[in-house]
Amino acid sequence: MEVQTVHRFQLTTTLCYGPEALAELTGLSGHKVLIVTDGFMVSTPLMDRVRERLADATIEFFDQVQPNPDIETVAAGLRACLTFEPDALLAIGGGSAIDTAKAVRKMGLEQGRRLTDGFYILPTTSGTGSEVSSYAVVTDNKTHAKLPLESRDMVADVAILDPEAVRTAPPKLTADSGMDAISHAIEAYVGKGHNDFSDALAEKSLRLANQYLVRSFKDGNDMQAREHQHTAATMAGIAFENAALGIVHGLSHSIGGTFHVAHGRLNGILLPHVIEFNAGELGFGPGALTATAERYAALATAIGLTAANQRNLVLALCEWIKKVRHEMEMPTTITEAGVDRSEFKSRIPEIAHKATGDYCTAGNPVPATQKQLAAILTAII
Ligand SMILES: [Fe+2]
Repeated sequence: MEVQTVHRFQLTTTLCYGPEALAELTGLSGHKVLIVTDGFMVSTPLMDRVRERLADATIEFFDQVQPNPDIETVAAGLRACLTFEPDALLAIGGGSAIDTAKAVRKMGLEQGRRLTDGFYILPTTSGTGSEVSSYAVVTDNKTHAKLPLESRDMVADVAILDPEAVRTAPPKLTADSGMDAISHAIEAYVGKGHNDFSDALAEKSLRLANQYLVRSFKDGNDMQAREHQHTAATMAGIAFENAALGIVHGLSHSIGGTFHVAHGRLNGILLPHVIEFNAGELGFGPGALTATAERYAALATAIGLTAANQRNLVLALCEWIKKVRHEMEMPTTITEAGVDRSEFKSRIPEIAHKATGDYCTAGNPVPATQKQLAAILTAII
């Protein structure tokens, strides 16, 4: 008998969005809540509002989250969890706080802690999609390796998408996280696991980014732009959680493990080059388009770009990314991003090798050899 594959599209997290979304925290009243965040966030006006909403809860803070959380930070968070014995977790911050909370929750559950009365995430950036994904990345500081974790235990029950939580994100952070969201939508749209559901979310996410990302970069107090860019980032997160990512992320993780450049900034540098590679020669030369080139052309059309033919639509998508990147004053090469040219050059074989083994690389629509990845890395110098 032929074995049929059942396809699944998972929607687990309840999304509370809009200017009053923070009110959802009252659902934690009466509970013991461990708040996972960083030291800066504890003394912000946002945290005052959170405390107000949690007035009827017993709260404790783990506020030692560092950028790119490492094994030691996660261990310290787990210790806080085992000591306090919360029944709910609340992550507040960007990708680092969220990933730390996810890892702590997974290990806390494995240690028999209840933690079953709610896993809430309040993102303060619009980009990672981590609030709806089952992934987290922890860094091993000794080897600089990025250790990916994946578990249903790390999926949030509730994501609170309150635009007030991102109002104070500075322009550079808005640009980096916004470009990360754009790369999630584009990679999910062409990724190996893409489907009608993820396509719809990726398209809408990119349409919203086209309309609102640069606006929220130019004026952080433009709350209409903030609100829509915030939902756009989460949509892209649901899309890639259910489709795949690709070599933009494979390469970005690998570069980011060696050179300290913001993840979204790296993605913005890589995206046009990866699209050219994935579209293949046929995407740009004479002859019929590849299936992947057709996907890029369809996405370009979905965000309202026009061109004389399909091939030029692929180019138009690349040009659109470059335009958004330019408007947000983002670097176009790795050297513009502050990396030493000769040091980067000398590390290319090693970075390309690491990227071949990255979990995102497997989702790329076109297989990429180490040599081909090295060529992309050479092109971004
Ligand atoms: Fe990303």
